[in-house]
Amino acid sequence: MANEIVKGIFYVGVDDRQTELFENLWPLPFGVSYNSYIIKDNKNVLIDTVEHTYGEEFFCKVKEVLGESPVDYLVINHMEPDHSSSIIELKRRYPDVKIIGNAKTLAMLNGFYAVTDNVVEVKDGESLSIGENTLTFHLTPMVHWPETQMTYLPEKKVLFSGDAFGTFGALNGKVVDEEIDVSQYWDEMYRYYSNIVGKYGMPVEKAIAKLGCLPIEYICSTHGPVWKKHISEVVNVYSHMARYEGNSGVVVVYGSMYGHTAGMAKTIAEALTDAGIKDVVLHDVSKSDMSYILRDIFKYKGLIIGAPTYSGDIFPKVEALLSQITLRGVKGRVFGCFGSFSWAGVAVKRLTSFAEHMKWGVTGTPVEMKQGGTGVDIKAACKALAISVAEAVKEA
Ligand code: FEO
Repeated sequence: MANEIVKGIFYVGVDDRQTELFENLWPLPFGVSYNSYIIKDNKNVLIDTVEHTYGEEFFCKVKEVLGESPVDYLVINHMEPDHSSSIIELKRRYPDVKIIGNAKTLAMLNGFYAVTDNVVEVKDGESLSIGENTLTFHLTPMVHWPETQMTYLPEKKVLFSGDAFGTFGALNGKVVDEEIDVSQYWDEMYRYYSNIVGKYGMPVEKAIAKLGCLPIEYICSTHGPVWKKHISEVVNVYSHMARYEGNSGVVVVYGSMYGHTAGMAKTIAEALTDAGIKDVVLHDVSKSDMSYILRDIFKYKGLIIGAPTYSGDIFPKVEALLSQITLRGVKGRVFGCFGSFSWAGVAVKRLTSFAEHMKWGVTGTPVEMKQGGTGVDIKAACKALAISVAEAVKEA
């Protein structure tokens, strides 16, 4: 059923509880919503569409709101196919629809769908009256693609924000945050941001600064609830992550083949707790999905990574994690490392060079265990590493 968010603005998005992996990469244990909105006025405006698999349900909702009236305009805030892949069907059902986008959007519209007719190009800051309401367009490139923009309705103080302020997690009946239990969405927001948008911290910060002066009563993003009651928390979570600020906790991530590196990780985690760090999260890279590890790396300012040496290199799943952290340009982590080897130690060297590349430096003395570590007090070395990281996290 279509939900009226505020007079004349309707939610016509859909929930996807079937797709296992978002972007065929990131697990969706609570599903995801593809949000689309209708503004009913002298001209009827659709904001974005939905993933085409859900087209039938989507167009039923559109019809429920508009009856036999047409969709006059489609505003494309974002061209990623989870929001744009129903455009061809929209044009089939509403052949006179005019499609609004900026120059980059329209180039993509041609590139993805060969659509070049009935388009209206808008520039940053331009407005379009649709009757009682006005659409104003604010370009916000790289939040999350180059063409991304937001559309603001000053009369209703509604911001259609594209991917910004979105989260994983399908909707549970109602749409507006004050009508539902939103507790499940906070962790999923961290995971959504760190997985999908995490590389683009600076553009997200710029967008928040650019739109910060607008009076906003509703944020309507492309995924997750409509934010009304929790706007300041949501903006804070996003700006916190965009600046790569972590909370005062430590993530310990390790790879381990036979339990030696895992044992070191457990000693370190325990010593961190003893040193007064309450939030300690332990991840085995072979068990925890990468999306959760990245979420916690964005969430906490301490990071300790451990790995065995494997075939003359670092344990491959840890290398994969390093690559994902590097891709996202995570800044300012208090970093420690440890590892193990059987005859030639490489893992700790790789972790040290990774930390230098990230401009984090290495806190404490890295611990590297040979074989079973017999005759050496590895536990004491691990505890010393944990204490160094704990102190640095408290001071950071
Ligand atoms: Fe949900 Fe960047 O698309």
